[in-house]
Amino acid sequence: MTFEEISVNDKLGRTVVIRSARPEDAEALVEYMKTTSAETPYLIREPEEITITKDDEVNFIEGKMAGKRELMLVATIDGKHVGNCSFTGIAPFNRFKHRCDVAIALYKEYCGCGIGKAMFETLLGAAKKAGYEQAELEVVAGNKNAIALYEKFGFEKCGTFPDYMKYSDGTYADAYRMIKKL
Ligand SMILES: CC(C)(COP(=O)(O)OP(=O)(O)OC[C@H]1O[C@@H](n2cnc3c(N)ncnc32)[C@H](O)[C@@H]1OP(=O)(O)O)[C@@H](O)C(=O)NCCC(=O)NCCS
Repeated sequence: MTFEEISVNDKLGRTVVIRSARPEDAEALVEYMKTTSAETPYLIREPEEITITKDDEVNFIEGKMAGKRELMLVATIDGKHVGNCSFTGIAPFNRFKHRCDVAIALYKEYCGCGIGKAMFETLLGAAKKAGYEQAELEVVAGNKNAIALYEKFGFEKCGTFPDYMKYSDGTYADAYRMIKKL
């Protein structure tokens, strides 16, 4: 799917453009995955596990654009990529057609400025328009900012996943499964 771009202002008065990812975003998106994975312990991969190439990412973005019920949005400020979010169907089966998984992450320096809220509002509206009835995600139990964002949008915890992640220092983190009816 693609999405017609919109502009919003963040809390600092900057103009944030929210639009579909395009093939020419591939290099910036690979860099973004590496950097955000190093900036926060709450994403699923360690930075050295981001081995995807620019060409792989171009193919991935083209797949998102061609997919009828999946979308990847990027946010930019003055043309600089500041974050992205996406939805995709849980599985390609009729009995799961009503459910989508959603994800979001911003560069650390752009967090806390209202950009996540604007992106999520746009994303959830597009997911509903695409025919999904509920949005779902998993979030590490200690990720208070993300949980606050999700609860603000009406996501509810529906279960705890024990030892969801194991970090390289041997410690574990639980996660919550959260669901919102669209
Ligand atoms: C989680 C994330 C997407 C939130 O986006 P954001 O742009 O920082 O959030 P916003 O500024 O739009 O804030 C949205 C709401 O979340 C809550 N929130 C966000 N940051 C907060 C903070 N530092 N302290 C308290 N509440 C916070 C608030 O309820 C806020 O609403 P309000 O501004 O009306 O009070 C962003 O912090 C991020 O990318 N984090 C790193 C990656 C990550 O953890 N992704 C989620 C993986 S499941």
